[in-house]
Amino acid sequence: MKVIEANDYYAMSQKAAEMIIDQVRKKPDSVLGLATGETILETYAAIVNDYQQNQTSYRHIRTFNLDEYIGLGADHPNSYHYYMNEHLFRFIDIPMSQTYIPNGLADDIPEECIRYEKLIGQCGGIDLQILGIGRNGHIGFNEPGTSFDSTTHVVELAHSTRIANSRFFSSLEEVPTHAITMGIATIMKSRQIILLASGKRKAHIMSQLLEGEVTPNIPASILKTHPNVTIIADKEALSLIGKEQRKVYVQ
Ligand code: F6R
Repeated sequence: MKVIEANDYYAMSQKAAEMIIDQVRKKPDSVLGLATGETILETYAAIVNDYQQNQTSYRHIRTFNLDEYIGLGADHPNSYHYYMNEHLFRFIDIPMSQTYIPNGLADDIPEECIRYEKLIGQCGGIDLQILGIGRNGHIGFNEPGTSFDSTTHVVELAHSTRIANSRFFSSLEEVPTHAITMGIATIMKSRQIILLASGKRKAHIMSQLLEGEVTPNIPASILKTHPNVTIIADKEALSLIGKEQRKVYVQ
């Protein structure tokens, strides 16, 4: 695992976009694993900007999103389907039929999890997976305690996650209680992983991640055992890392 320290949120986003665009140019039929949330917003804006300036093409790209709320459809403004359309897909030339997101409205949710996991395999697996990190160390919606062997599954969202995400809803009650998420084993199968972290609110978890052990209590800690992980974090997110750990990880 290596860590690239960026000066600020904007620089972090530019670096992340650069790595994603590089992957798309090198392998135009790449399979990308995508995240939602606040951290990655500017990365998507930079990708859209590059598309408009340089016409990098996504025509042969396929994407798999990490997660989706159960009970929210693509037309719900808080669904991750909606988010992806609004922040990325509708601005680039990717055919919508090549963008995959778990269906939170499926009649048979356990079956939907199996279908989604299989589909990733049928597409040849994920070349580059982008992750954010929750303040409790979650990746996707894999909350602390999730088995490292988990594949795509249903989760009950941690109270802290619902509170964190309630900023996008008009009240906490409206935040769904369950979601479908790629599992930790699904994420770990990706050939390359980039994890983004920005701001003081991520500083504590980043120090726990970089200074602590690999434990299911911090789901992201499993990334230390993956052969190709790059963390791109800004100065604030890395502000609590001790000097020694800095030497080990930070470039
Ligand atoms: C989103 C996802 C989550 C977020 C994480 C960080 O698809 O899977 O794990 O990446 O909660 O969210 P932000 O960026 O909003 O702090």
